[in-house]
Amino acid sequence: MDIVLYKKSFIDELGRADSIDAISHLEVTYLGRNGTINDVLKGMKALSIEEKKIAGKDINAFKIFVAGEIQKAKTILYQKEEDTILIDVTLPPPLDKPGTLHPITLAVNEITAIFNKIGFIRMSYPEVDWEHYAFEVLNMPKTHAARDDFETTFLSGSPDIEKGKMVLTPHTSNGQVREMERLKSTPPIRMINIGKCYRPNWDATHTPMFHQFEGLCVDKNITIANLKGTLDYFVKSYFGEFAKARLRPHHFQFTEPSFEVDITCTMCKGTAVVDGKKCKICKSGWLELGGTGMVHPNVLIAGGIDPLVYSGWAFGFGIERVNMMKYGIDDIRNYYTGDIRFLNLF
Ligand code: PHE
Repeated sequence: MDIVLYKKSFIDELGRADSIDAISHLEVTYLGRNGTINDVLKGMKALSIEEKKIAGKDINAFKIFVAGEIQKAKTILYQKEEDTILIDVTLPPPLDKPGTLHPITLAVNEITAIFNKIGFIRMSYPEVDWEHYAFEVLNMPKTHAARDDFETTFLSGSPDIEKGKMVLTPHTSNGQVREMERLKSTPPIRMINIGKCYRPNWDATHTPMFHQFEGLCVDKNITIANLKGTLDYFVKSYFGEFAKARLRPHHFQFTEPSFEVDITCTMCKGTAVVDGKKCKICKSGWLELGGTGMVHPNVLIAGGIDPLVYSGWAFGFGIERVNMMKYGIDDIRNYYTGDIRFLNLF
């Protein structure tokens, strides 16, 4: 009995075995119950005890060798099979990361939730609307600069006798009188209208399409104090505890008095200083957020609400703008170029 010969023929056969099946066959041939190794063991009966000891050692080493080589060969073949599957071009690509919502959708959801908490209902009003709702009922006469076609996109087509032409809404304020009409001119009104707006500008802080969220609150005894409290609540919820709102006198046709809202700068946290130098983002500790004011009596009247009984406030802020302030993004066009490196940040 010569283990060396067995080993040689095993190595030859293994070299020729090029499939899992062939290797399994070899496994049975050598290691199976009626296989070569058991045959050799049976043949040892005739040997003396001393001879058995030596031969037993050799056979055992051979058995371990065969089992190890078969295992190795199998592993290599399984790996080859897997590799073949990986380059099957007809299979869908492996996904290591599922898609995510667009940062603006995430912001819309977050802002909606913040206002839902204090009883405001999310509304969506037309993004292509009549001049009537976009301007006329908002106390903006035909001569107002915003109604110039350099500022607002008008749709072609014959105008409605009462409602005028159709426009791509330049703000979400068209939802104000629409909401009053929906509620049959009966306050209380607590609305958050979120939608797309269109203005023909394209630079680092403007895209021709952007989003606004418009708050409207109308009830008895509504004052600037309620407005200020709501704005402080919003900026703390959205930007963080450090943030405060500040009102600055301004002018809008549809609010009186009108204000511009500033918030504590998110970069320097209101100190106007970063690393011992003047904050580059705000220079003053404050950043401009958007417009607000007490609803003009003419707007309430247009919505069938008596301004002597009811009062209200409204605001309109840009969603891209608040998101840029929150995350320190310096170019609004990032939101709409579809660059996956930017989108992956959210
Ligand atoms: N519509 C104004 C704008 O787009 C914002 C605003 C809304 C101001 C409501 C006052 C009240 O700039």
